[in-house]
Amino acid sequence: MIVLGIESSCDETAAALVNDKKEILAETVLSQEEHKIYGGVVPEIAARSHLDHIEDIIEHTFQKAGIKPEDIDAVAATSGPGLIGGVVVGVMAAKALAFALNKPFVAVNHLEGHSLVSRLTNDVEYPYLLLLVSGGHCQILVVKGVGDYERLGTTIDDAAGEAFDKVAKMLKLGYPGGPMIEKMAEIGNENRFALPHPLRGSGDFNLSFSGLKTAVRKIIESYEEDGNIEHVILSKQDTADICASFQKTATECLCDKLDKAADYFKQKYPEGKYLVVAGGVAANKYLRAHLEELANKKGLTFAAPPLKWCTDNGVMIAWAGLERFAKGYTNDLDFKPRPRWPLDEDAPKAAGAGGVKA
Ligand code: KG4
Ligand code: ZN
Repeated sequence: MIVLGIESSCDETAAALVNDKKEILAETVLSQEEHKIYGGVVPEIAARSHLDHIEDIIEHTFQKAGIKPEDIDAVAATSGPGLIGGVVVGVMAAKALAFALNKPFVAVNHLEGHSLVSRLTNDVEYPYLLLLVSGGHCQILVVKGVGDYERLGTTIDDAAGEAFDKVAKMLKLGYPGGPMIEKMAEIGNENRFALPHPLRGSGDFNLSFSGLKTAVRKIIESYEEDGNIEHVILSKQDTADICASFQKTATECLCDKLDKAADYFKQKYPEGKYLVVAGGVAANKYLRAHLEELANKKGLTFAAPPLKWCTDNGVMIAWAGLERFAKGYTNDLDFKPRPRWPLDEDAPKAAGAGGVKA
């Protein structure tokens, strides 16, 4: 069984071909460079760029795999959540291919792509405890099966990746901010600045990063008499120390809640063996190391996808599509892309269900 996966929900145009032996036949990822000068993704520019490249990306992926479109069994595409212009481009391409080939179309929730990819890369088995940390989302979940989640907690304001990006912007480090903060933090003193841990001890599994981001802003502003962040010029060492202190505190906030979530998970799902991290922020090696330590302490096996499959890619969409298709969860061609689509609010599964008319 071979599935084509298409991803176009943010600033990566990507496609991949994956089979049920967990082999990646080919993949192509184009990261749009056009947004760098704006310090963030511009939705209209992203949509136009997806439109310009999607056909070539798909064609190239088939060429690399050395197979023909007729050889696949289903076409999967990110159908939400995300920037709707880009999502529509990917969904339309997938539907057109599915129609022309007379093969099923599978609408994949982008978050499900992130959530399931470690089953392909690390052979993770259900159920597992998952920290999903990306540019737009930050959740702690139990993944019980395809489309079957128990959401334990979520951020009540910013996503973790968003906090990394906003702090990087304040420090004029460019976009995307996460990798730049991680790099600067390597030469920084993580104990120099004491930062707050919002929602620590709140008794639930929710997270918050807004106060942490504001605390960083105040530190930066304190370097300039007029308090205007635009006028501040920091030394490389000061910047590195802020990055390291922020990265350490954000990691502590995540690990605090996961520590409690792991206890809950072990008690409610004694058969569960894994602590998994997924999403763009899962590429952060400092966070991975601390999560691995936590997993060891709790007697769980830590699993994280290789770095290139943490950020957006086609492999995760092809794999989630394949898992869905294997269960018979396909979608009609009138499926409406969903800019918002909570992971625990599943699309109709069975073929012919008609898609979500949200
Ligand atoms: O999953 P992703 O590629 O796109 C979304 O679905 O949002 O995640 C992108 C996010 C960005 O906020 C980016 O700054 C963050 O992941 N990110 C990182 C690292 N690499 C990417 N954050 C921290 N450390 C990293 N190494
Ligand atoms: Zn993503």
